[in-house]
Amino acid sequence: MPPAPTAYDVVDLIRAKRDGGRLAPDEIDWLISAYTAGDIAEEQMSALAMAILLRGMRREEISRWTQAMIDSGERLDFSGLTRSDGSRRLTTDKHSTGGVGDKITLPLAPLVASFGVPVPQLSGRGLGHTGGTLDKLESIAGWRASLSNEEMMTQLDGVGAVICAAGSGLAPADKKLYALRDVTGTVEAIPLIASSIMSKKIAEGTDALVLDVKVGSGAFMKTREDADELARTMVALGTDAGVATTALITRMDAPLGLTAGNAIEVEESLDVLSGGGPPDVVELTVELAREMLAAVGVTDVDPAQALQDGRAMDTWRQMISAQGGDPDAALPQAAHSHTITAGVSGTVTRLDAMSVGLSAWRLGAGRARKEDPVQAGAGVRMHAKPGDTIRAGDPLFTLLTDEETRFERAASALEGAVDVDAEGGPVEIPNLVLDRISAEDIAAGPAAQG
Ligand code: URA
Repeated sequence: MPPAPTAYDVVDLIRAKRDGGRLAPDEIDWLISAYTAGDIAEEQMSALAMAILLRGMRREEISRWTQAMIDSGERLDFSGLTRSDGSRRLTTDKHSTGGVGDKITLPLAPLVASFGVPVPQLSGRGLGHTGGTLDKLESIAGWRASLSNEEMMTQLDGVGAVICAAGSGLAPADKKLYALRDVTGTVEAIPLIASSIMSKKIAEGTDALVLDVKVGSGAFMKTREDADELARTMVALGTDAGVATTALITRMDAPLGLTAGNAIEVEESLDVLSGGGPPDVVELTVELAREMLAAVGVTDVDPAQALQDGRAMDTWRQMISAQGGDPDAALPQAAHSHTITAGVSGTVTRLDAMSVGLSAWRLGAGRARKEDPVQAGAGVRMHAKPGDTIRAGDPLFTLLTDEETRFERAASALEGAVDVDAEGGPVEIPNLVLDRISAEDIAAGPAAQG
C-alpha cells in the first residue's frame, strides 16, 4: 500500500462525521491506511464506525472507502484464464449476505462451472447464528480450504469451480475493521457492510458478481427498505469498479431447506446435485445460476437440467477431489439426537429462521469466537415448513450434537419458533425472490445513508 499522503487529526475526522459532515477522499485514504498500519487507536476507529452507523455516508464516500480497503492488500487477477483460441474466459461469482440453512454456494458453484464458466468463490467461516461455507465443506474427509493463488488458478482452469478461504492478503483493512465492528455494535451500518463485502469481492478479481441480499428474521437486514438500500449500494460499488453486478433480494424469514448445520447441509446439497432436494433450495440455486451465467453472456442454457442430468454433480466431485476431499466418504454424524414434536394439529404458518439458527449454533454447529472449533455433525433437521400440514405428536425438529448437555438451551431457542393454524386452511407462501436490482436501477438512485 502507498504511504499515507497527509496526516490528519483523527479526532477532527470523528467530530466531522459525528456532526453529519462528509469525509474528503484524502481523509478516507489516510484513515484506512493509518488504521491498517496500527497508527489509529481501536477506540478512535470504534467511535468513527459508530458515527458512520448513525450518520451514514454519501455514495462517493463509500466508493472511496471501498477502494482504500481494496488498496490495503493484494488483488487477484484471472485475466490469464483463456480458451484455446486465446479469448478470455470471464469469471462469475455470488455473495450472500448470510442466512440460516443457506447452503446455496455448495450446489451453485459446480452447477455454474458445469457450463464452462469459471467460479472463484472465496468464502468465510461462520460467526454467530449464520453458518459458514468453509465450515460446511470441512465436514468432508480430507477437504482443504486453504489454496495458494497458483493452486486456485490451476483448479479454475481445469475444474472450473473453486470454493476456498480468502487469503490474509486480501483487503486486510476489512479484516481488522470487521473484527472491531463485531465487538462494538457497528456491524449493521449499511455503508460499512457494503464496503466490507464489495472490497473483498472486487479485490478477488471476479468479472461478474451476483449478490443475494437476504431480508427477514434470520438476516442482517430485517426490513425491505434496508435490504433495498444495501443492495443498491453494493450494485453501485460493483458497477463503478467495472464488475458486472446485480442483486436479488430474497426472503430469510424461514430457513432455507430442511437442514441448518454443517454435514447435514452438505448432505442436502448432494440431494440437490442429484436432481432432488427441497424446492426452495433448488429454486434459489437455479435462479442464482441463471443470473451468474447471464452476467457473463451465457443465456441459452438450462441450469435446472444440469442438476437433473448429473453434469453439476460431476463438477462437484472434481471440485471436492481437487482440494483433497473424498466425495464418497460418509459424512460425520452427531453422537446424540433429540426430537421435538408438535403439540397441536394444523397447518404451519411460520417457522422462525433466527430461532433455528440460534438452536443450531447452541448445538455446536457455529462458533462464538473465531478461534472456536465447530462440530461437523451438529445442527437442526426440520420436518415441517410453512404450508405443511402436521398432526399433534409429529416430529417438528431433530436436534443433533456430540454433547447431550447442549440440548436444553438449543430446545429453548425453538420455543415459539413455529406457528400452527389449527383450522388447517391453505397458507399463502410469498415468493422467495422479492426483487432484482441491476446497474440500470441505481443509475439515478439516491446516495446511501446510515
Ligand atoms: N459480511 C461481510 O463480509 N462484511 C460485513 O460487514 C457483513 C457481512
